[in-house]
Amino acid sequence: MKQNIINARITFRKSPIHVLERFAFKDLSDAYLSFKKHANISECVIIQTCNRVELFTASDNHDVHKIKKTWASLTGLEENAFADILEICDNHDAFEHLLKLTSGLESLVVGEEQILGQIKESIAVARNTKASGKRLNKLFDTSIRIGTRIRNSTGISKGGISLGSMAVKLAEENVDDIKSKNVLLIGTGEAATMVAKSLNKRGYEFHVTSRTVERAIGFSQTLGGKPIKFEDVLSAFDNYEIIFVATIAPYFLVTFDKMIESMKNKKSGMMILDLSNPRTVDEQVATIPGIKLMNIDQIAEMVDKNMTKRKEKVSTVQNIISEEVPIIEATMKRLDAEPLVKDVFTNADSMRIKELQKALQMLGETDEKRIKIIDELTKAVVESIVSAPMNNLRKASEQGNPDLLETASKLFNYKKKD
Ligand SMILES: NC(=O)c1ccc[n+]([C@@H]2O[C@H](COP(=O)([O-])OP(=O)(O)OC[C@H]3O[C@@H](n4cnc5c(N)ncnc54)[C@H](OP(=O)(O)O)[C@@H]3O)[C@@H](O)[C@H]2O)c1
Repeated sequence: MKQNIINARITFRKSPIHVLERFAFKDLSDAYLSFKKHANISECVIIQTCNRVELFTASDNHDVHKIKKTWASLTGLEENAFADILEICDNHDAFEHLLKLTSGLESLVVGEEQILGQIKESIAVARNTKASGKRLNKLFDTSIRIGTRIRNSTGISKGGISLGSMAVKLAEENVDDIKSKNVLLIGTGEAATMVAKSLNKRGYEFHVTSRTVERAIGFSQTLGGKPIKFEDVLSAFDNYEIIFVATIAPYFLVTFDKMIESMKNKKSGMMILDLSNPRTVDEQVATIPGIKLMNIDQIAEMVDKNMTKRKEKVSTVQNIISEEVPIIEATMKRLDAEPLVKDVFTNADSMRIKELQKALQMLGETDEKRIKIIDELTKAVVESIVSAPMNNLRKASEQGNPDLLETASKLFNYKKKD
């Protein structure tokens, strides 16, 4: 293959979540510009979620060191921070990895749906900013289509339990009669929505708070709960027996000191479920008598244990992916030949039209029927001459024969345009 595709990634598999977030790009447009400028790449797509920061790149001449160096400089990290946690693969393995992502095999919760939406969003952003081009656009469009088909045909995304529902289930398992308890939800984003939906489904009342009070009010209008001012909540955790926390605050909202204070006069115990990643509840809180704390990793682990049905489907999904990867590989290789093939067909056709018009003028031909016959004849001649070599070129490209492509480029005087 002339152009290689590389995937460079840091994910929850090799890095704790609080470390992972340091590798995220604050300004995506800037990241795209820098990678193109400093890392020898012609196309780039960045996938950035709470569980992964991934780069897919296309280049004639990849330089992994430059990718790492640019990544480090964009995030203000030392290059040695990447040691042991940066995973890199190319072509076949990168295609396989992307299919695993789109079909949900790479997710913390196998088969979860969110990643597919996040990948669609990533390629849309890359496309709009022209960070991606025909190779990565084709690769992502194909992988999204296959991932969707795999999910539909195998049911890998069905029969699961969301993190939100699991958090509520864990609260039920640890706290008696939730209906008689005071429940608080801190956060009004996607994760908090999952919790609220589950609380509603089970008929549990709750208070909801967000840094922005308008957001808590809007949230409560569609997802239930009674909106409470953020400041009022932070100084009165002792009002609650169950607290769900799901925010992206870059500091601990629930601190050790606050909870020591809150538990001083509290008669009952308290359960805190922190869905935030990175944590927004200080782990030390778990050492305070009367408090049971569960963090996102523990909740995700329980979700995972409940995923037996999905897990049974993993090998089926894996088999489909193994069949699809060589097809993607051939499609991507074929792309190398397409600009040349298109160029040859366009040139041949413009020559045909020029010569046809000359001949018609010399003949003084005006009869529409006869002109059509001559036109069809010239088309058939050009096609029969050009089609066979072009198809052979496509095949050679599919089979990874770049030499023939080079030779054909010289023969047809083709100059690469991108
Ligand atoms: N989305 C998921 O499927 C999912 C799954 C598992 C875990 N998580 C984790 O759950 C957390 C929330 O994710 P999300 O997807 O729900 O995010 P989101 O949709 O962006 O919502 C973010 C929430 O955090 C609040 N927030 C932001 N900055 C804050 C600050 N400095 N202090 C206090 N609150 C702040 C926002 O409230 P205001 O707008 O009012 O400030 C909002 O309620 C993250 O840590 C994420 O890693 C998410």
